[in-house]
Amino acid sequence: MRLPRRKRKPAPRPPDPAPNEQMAASKYAPYLDELAATSIWHMSTRLPRLIGLAWTWAWRADRTDTAATIGLNLAAGVFTAVGLFAVTGVLEPLFTGGPTPERVRAALPSLALVAGAYAARALLQAGAGWAQARLRPQVERLTELHLFDLTSRIGLEAFDDSEFNDTMYRARDRGQYEAAQVITSAVDVLTSMVSITAAAGVLAVLHPVLLPLLALTVIPDGWAAARAARMRYERIRDLTPGRRRKWALGDMLASRDSAAELRAFTMRGFLIDEYTRISDIERAAMLAVARRQTVIRLLGEGAGGVATAVTYAALGALLVAGAMPLAVAGTAVFAIRTAQSSLSTLLFSLSATYESGLYFSDFLEFSRRAAQRLPDAPTARETARLAAVRARGVVFAYPGEQTPALDGVDIDITRGEVVALVGENGSGKSTLARLIAGLYTPQSGSITWNGTDIAGMDPDALRGRIGLINQEYTQWPLSAQRNITMSAEADGTRLEEAARLSGADEVVTGLAYGWDTMLDKRFVDGADLSGGQWQRIASARGLYRDADLLIADEPTSALDARAEKRLFESLHAHAQGRTVLLITHRLASVRMADRIYVLEKGRVVEHGDHENLMACGGLYAELFRMQAQAYEEGAPLTHDTGSDTAVSSPLAEKTPGLTH
Ligand SMILES: Nc1ncnc2c1ncn2[C@@H]1O[C@H](COP(=O)(O)OP(=O)(O)OP(=O)(O)O)[C@@H](O)[C@H]1O
Ligand SMILES: [Mg+2]
Repeated sequence: MRLPRRKRKPAPRPPDPAPNEQMAASKYAPYLDELAATSIWHMSTRLPRLIGLAWTWAWRADRTDTAATIGLNLAAGVFTAVGLFAVTGVLEPLFTGGPTPERVRAALPSLALVAGAYAARALLQAGAGWAQARLRPQVERLTELHLFDLTSRIGLEAFDDSEFNDTMYRARDRGQYEAAQVITSAVDVLTSMVSITAAAGVLAVLHPVLLPLLALTVIPDGWAAARAARMRYERIRDLTPGRRRKWALGDMLASRDSAAELRAFTMRGFLIDEYTRISDIERAAMLAVARRQTVIRLLGEGAGGVATAVTYAALGALLVAGAMPLAVAGTAVFAIRTAQSSLSTLLFSLSATYESGLYFSDFLEFSRRAAQRLPDAPTARETARLAAVRARGVVFAYPGEQTPALDGVDIDITRGEVVALVGENGSGKSTLARLIAGLYTPQSGSITWNGTDIAGMDPDALRGRIGLINQEYTQWPLSAQRNITMSAEADGTRLEEAARLSGADEVVTGLAYGWDTMLDKRFVDGADLSGGQWQRIASARGLYRDADLLIADEPTSALDARAEKRLFESLHAHAQGRTVLLITHRLASVRMADRIYVLEKGRVVEHGDHENLMACGGLYAELFRMQAQAYEEGAPLTHDTGSDTAVSSPLAEKTPGLTH
């Protein structure tokens, strides 16, 4: 019968794959290439190295438990062998001629040895089991921490790369937990090898032909087990993109963040349908694997059964031909059964090691790829306070994107200035801010800090000098205070100041536990904030840091008019002696900036101060007049919000293109 074979070539990519199609045929050619390289033979040659690596993780996790796991298991294996030899010592006198009491008496010492050996083995196995059980959580803790150490240090680009995300998912989903399993299975391999050596020794002594016959009985089974394990692994690996999508859908179906819109936009049916469709594909794939595995196993067991029949036939022939006495044949039958069970254990544990090794290699592959994405060691020791930041000919495209988000940008920010970036949605303002903050590295051109290229600077040292009010700020599930101080030590005066400048003070006053209130409703006594209240907290976060350069990316998009006015005043006040890079669509608020850069499709199309830009009548003047007109023609204001901010607020609510 021809076994169904897995396609090695990736299916041609459809023009616009629907998410569920993405998982039906994996489009990740690199993975398939790697799979081709992880054939059973290739994996078997890699196994010793994988086992070695798993052991180094175990050794680092806990030396005593690692040594105990190996030592006690090996000792248990030795006692199994001793027991086996002792059993042959029991059988031989029993099968030889003579009166029964004498035969039993002759067998007694060996019988005592059997009992002793198996009792010792039981004790040793209990000890080994304890050591193994202790080792597992320790190894898992180590691999988990290693994974998160990498995920929190790698360059931000990694998170925009879907292939890397797949690798990370596989490592998190299962790979990181398999090191301990590789170790356990590898120990089983070792111990069963010890008992097989003993059984093989007994058989070799009894008759040389029995040994190769015995090997024949277990090889088909072993092959089938390894093949089945590989099938399951390949299928699971292929299903990774779909599983990630399912995971994301599941998150939307069961998360607080999406719960309101899910209901408001009656998304339930759509999401459940999508989830079901992907689950159906996954189920069909796994059922197909189960069917193929059954066929493979049946074939393996069938071939193994035939080989066993041949072995016993050979034994019978030897007996009939008088080449083997009955006593020896009886011992041989027992040794064959013992060896067979040890060999099955060996093959089972080999296949388990092989399967865990496949998943563990996902973890290793992630570690390798993530290590390549770690920032290079700093080459420059620039620690001086900011004098000037300059961008020259900066070109940057996000991973996998053909069109650069920034295309030859030059800007200058000098100490003490307020520099503004303006431009329409998608023009590249936030991208430029992220590059200046050292979160991404330009593909060409340079960004310098006091003349030193920031690409060579220590990223943490650079980030320590920059305060960032992010456009897409994070709502950390931490206390209100921690949401502002972040990793820094709390400094009461600075905290109060940042809260006052941003308006976060009013937010905290209204919280049940003040600064200690947990800002996450999912936890006991947790509180939630309104969009604008959260934005005040995010602004306070940027202002709290005693930074040379404050980057404020759309800090007022959700603020009420009074809070907006207060924040812009704070930013200008903050600039005294410091430096601010301000990104905003509220053009009235950038009038005071020392210099304004206007971006369009990733290029600086105009720059200068407000008067110059208005005089030259370009994009800035057009956008500014639009906002001013809207104010003039708009509904009368109900209260005085201050001259500057009032220009932008009505428009901000009416023109989606200019707000967020
Ligand atoms: N992580 C990303 N991966 C791929 N493309 C991205 C990513 N982030 C932004 N882009 C693209 O880069 C371009 C510039 O985006 P950017 O966020 O810098 O615009 P922006 O000027 O800040 O816009 P807005 O006013 O809406 O905040 C856009 O075309 C956007 O689609
Ligand atoms: Mg932006």
